[in-house]
Amino acid sequence: MSKRLQKILSAIPRCHTLADVGCDHGYIGIGALQSEVCSQVLFVDISAPSLQKASNALPVHLKERAEFFVRDGIGDLQCDCAVIAGMGGLEIMSILTNTVTLPKWLVLQPMRNQVDLRQYLLNNYNIVSDTKFADGKFYDLIVAQLSESKQALSPLELTFGLTNIACPSQDFVQFLLVEQAKAQNILQHCPTAPVKDYLGQVNAVLARTEEI
Ligand SMILES: C[S@@+](CC[C@H](N)C(=O)[O-])C[C@H]1O[C@@H](n2cnc3c(N)ncnc32)[C@H](O)[C@@H]1O
Repeated sequence: MSKRLQKILSAIPRCHTLADVGCDHGYIGIGALQSEVCSQVLFVDISAPSLQKASNALPVHLKERAEFFVRDGIGDLQCDCAVIAGMGGLEIMSILTNTVTLPKWLVLQPMRNQVDLRQYLLNNYNIVSDTKFADGKFYDLIVAQLSESKQALSPLELTFGLTNIACPSQDFVQFLLVEQAKAQNILQHCPTAPVKDYLGQVNAVLARTEEI
């Protein structure tokens, strides 16, 4: 199992019913059943052939704790935790908008549009952890808990993630250095205000990490 999948698995809180949304190969849901972090898993995928992969991979002794659904997102399924990994942030937002009963917990690994997703989550969730990690490339892992109280994030927390700002990891610092080099390179050829602003934010966070 890849480091990315291990990180996602270890972020899943103890729960009864986990939905592995966009499960594809099913490794996340299967890993969750094997580690006993949940009692049952709803394997969901919009693609029947993808869902079939998950069904084929599920060990026989776990079959009675699993259900399979070909569908777009969570819809009216009931679960207390949903993992949505390996999809774009906008797709994740669309899935959550069309969810009838929002799960108590979300474990999200968005591939892009992370800032939009963070902003969107704050309508109904508190972000509990939001970390950057490297596994060939950089990934974000967000754990959020349903909440009636409104969480306020600073602009830097929205851009880079709450936990990365509070407690920067080596992977996050590496990410910042890569982003710094990319932004400097772009500015040499095409100086635009958004890239200048972004570089300013990257430099501000890097300066803070040097103080820690
Ligand atoms: C890149 S794979 C990610 C698989 C796995 N979650 C992971 O992180 O390794 C994305 C999967 O999401 C499924 N998918 C995309 N949009 C979906 C939606 N709206 N509802 C359910 N599944 C969806 C695709 O069919 C595909 O199997």
